[in-house]
Amino acid sequence: MTTAGNDAGTGELAGKRAVVTGGSRGIGAAVVRRLLDAGAEVLTTARSKTSTVPEGAAFVEADVRTRAGAETIAEAAQAALGGVDILVDNAGGARPFPHAWVIPDEEWQDQLDLNYLAAVRLDSLLTPGMRERRSGVVVHVSSAAVLTSAPPFLHYTAAKAALENYSRGLALELAPFGVRVNTVSPGRTATPGGEATREEWASLSEGPGQDITAPPLGREGRPDDIADAVLFLVSDRASWLTGRNLTVDGGEFPAG
Ligand SMILES: NC(=O)c1ccc[n+]([C@@H]2O[C@H](COP(=O)([O-])OP(=O)(O)OC[C@H]3O[C@@H](n4cnc5c(N)ncnc54)[C@H](OP(=O)(O)O)[C@@H]3O)[C@@H](O)[C@H]2O)c1
Repeated sequence: MTTAGNDAGTGELAGKRAVVTGGSRGIGAAVVRRLLDAGAEVLTTARSKTSTVPEGAAFVEADVRTRAGAETIAEAAQAALGGVDILVDNAGGARPFPHAWVIPDEEWQDQLDLNYLAAVRLDSLLTPGMRERRSGVVVHVSSAAVLTSAPPFLHYTAAKAALENYSRGLALELAPFGVRVNTVSPGRTATPGGEATREEWASLSEGPGQDITAPPLGREGRPDDIADAVLFLVSDRASWLTGRNLTVDGGEFPAG
């Protein structure tokens, strides 16, 4: 399928093998579609397979919060693709609490596992092959919410902030091997997970209610807005770009 108005359908990723975590819906599914359209072979993952997994992608069930889940994905990638040139660590999500001080220990740990350590573990399994081939690209999906540190999401934003810091360091380490590492930080994007999280936040007594103003560009993000940024970063058009964080948020947040 070719999509007008972007670079999908150009075949610019022909011959590339990609893994995208959390591709069963939302931003991950849009990234999978963009990569397939650009000619890549794609393996995607989630905890369960749904009808919204994009057609044409291989799929494996795995929970990215555990080392065993990361190993399952790495083994499936080897079996389905024979190696990985592009890795998009996208699976993630947030659960709001009324105050940061009521967030229990296990939620802090869960957010670290889901939004930070999942990427560290999967990168550790899939970047050695990139290093050996002296070529590869990693994109971490963080959040523009890191710029606000909103207390109901402090466990989430702190985990994503760690991801961003780690991403910069990994980029420095892998640059001499020709492997690029970047972050994309979405703002409010219309996805099943994003909508559910914002509804839960609005229902908290100290939540924003319905009084959320639109970003300066006048609308919330679409999954394809984020997928286009990821497609650019994994393409050779970004071949001199590493260790950076691209915020895609309709102009909502001031630079951090
Ligand atoms: N939407 C937004 O407004 C927004 C804003 C900023 C940042 N982000 C970031 O963008 C990324 C994608 O978010 P989204 O809005 O597209 O979320 P989504 O609609 O909830 O989709 C999340 C995807 O990740 C998978 N996933 C969740 N937990 C997982 C786990 N433990 N193990 C394996 N897979 C898991 C989900 O499948 P299963 O549940 O079946 O496992 C699903 O495929 C996340 O990292 C999120 O933090 C989103």
